[in-house]
Amino acid sequence: MKVRVEENRRLSADFQRMRVEWPGALPEPLPGQFVMVRTRSSTDPLWRRPFGVHDFSRRGGSASAALLYQVVGPTTRDLAATAAGESIDLLGPFGSGFDLRGKEHWLVAGGRGVAPLFFLARRLIEGVRSLRAMIGGCTESHVMQVEELREIGCPTEVATEDGSLGRRGMVTDLLAGGLEGISDERRKDIVVSACGPEGMLRRVSGLASAYAVAARLSLDTLMACGQGYCQGCTVKTRSGYSLCCREGPVFDAEVLSW
Ligand SMILES: Cc1cc2nc3c(=O)[nH]c(=O)nc-3n(C[C@H](O)[C@H](O)[C@H](O)COP(=O)(O)OP(=O)(O)OC[C@H]3O[C@@H](n4cnc5c(N)ncnc54)[C@H](O)[C@@H]3O)c2cc1C
Ligand code: FES
Repeated sequence: MKVRVEENRRLSADFQRMRVEWPGALPEPLPGQFVMVRTRSSTDPLWRRPFGVHDFSRRGGSASAALLYQVVGPTTRDLAATAAGESIDLLGPFGSGFDLRGKEHWLVAGGRGVAPLFFLARRLIEGVRSLRAMIGGCTESHVMQVEELREIGCPTEVATEDGSLGRRGMVTDLLAGGLEGISDERRKDIVVSACGPEGMLRRVSGLASAYAVAARLSLDTLMACGQGYCQGCTVKTRSGYSLCCREGPVFDAEVLSW
């Protein structure tokens, strides 16, 4: 479906945020769901590419959604070159969302993983849930949406591997420190929602298991069709294989078999 681009703004050397109109014919997205985007009619790339819904809002009778993307290849280069008023081809929303239940939510993002977590933060704040965010990246220009998270009322800590912003180290160091410093009783009320590179998600999963907290992980698996047809996005779970696009991309950490 062709959707009109309302705004496309550069945030850093390789990150951009695009706002598109959300047609009434599409279901309203949930935090954690993704859309499949095509920018070319040629066969390179052959398949659409998945992008998490970064934000969603309604004003009057119209709605719009935002995508936050890192420019890494042909589709994201095309997105970066699309001007307001032009259109992109988008299908969705697909997949499972994050869990909005739970007393206290900790959001952990690495790099572009902040994309779906910002939408989750907005919904949790609307539901008056207690939350905090930990955002990490290799360097300052890969740490996005920190001020925006604080502006909507989400306390946000930052870590960068090179120490250019926030604490020097991994975002999972922030998570480990936070979990270490609280009581077993409080840990029972916490839900960790995380999105980022696989190594980061594995560490989040290990910490969640060590401290007995619930964790929901959004996986960045390579996808082709995005709708359960091609079997190209299998994820190993403790009970066999699941399709990331249909059963995920958000999974309970404890069901995944790394
Ligand atoms: C559910 C889901 C949600 C996503 N949401 C976002 C988002 O909100 N913002 C965002 O910037 N990106 C997101 N991604 C990743 C995005 O879909 C890829 O970066 C996409 O391939 C970019 O397309 P491209 O044509 O620009 O580059 P491509 O040519 O497809 O990719 C460029 C390079 O990145 C590698 N690559 C692509 N995808 C992956 C991957 N999953 N894991 C490891 N390497 C990969 C390719 O092998 C290639 O070398 C998401 C992925 C998934 C599965
Ligand atoms: S991407 Fe085709 S089945 Fe998941």
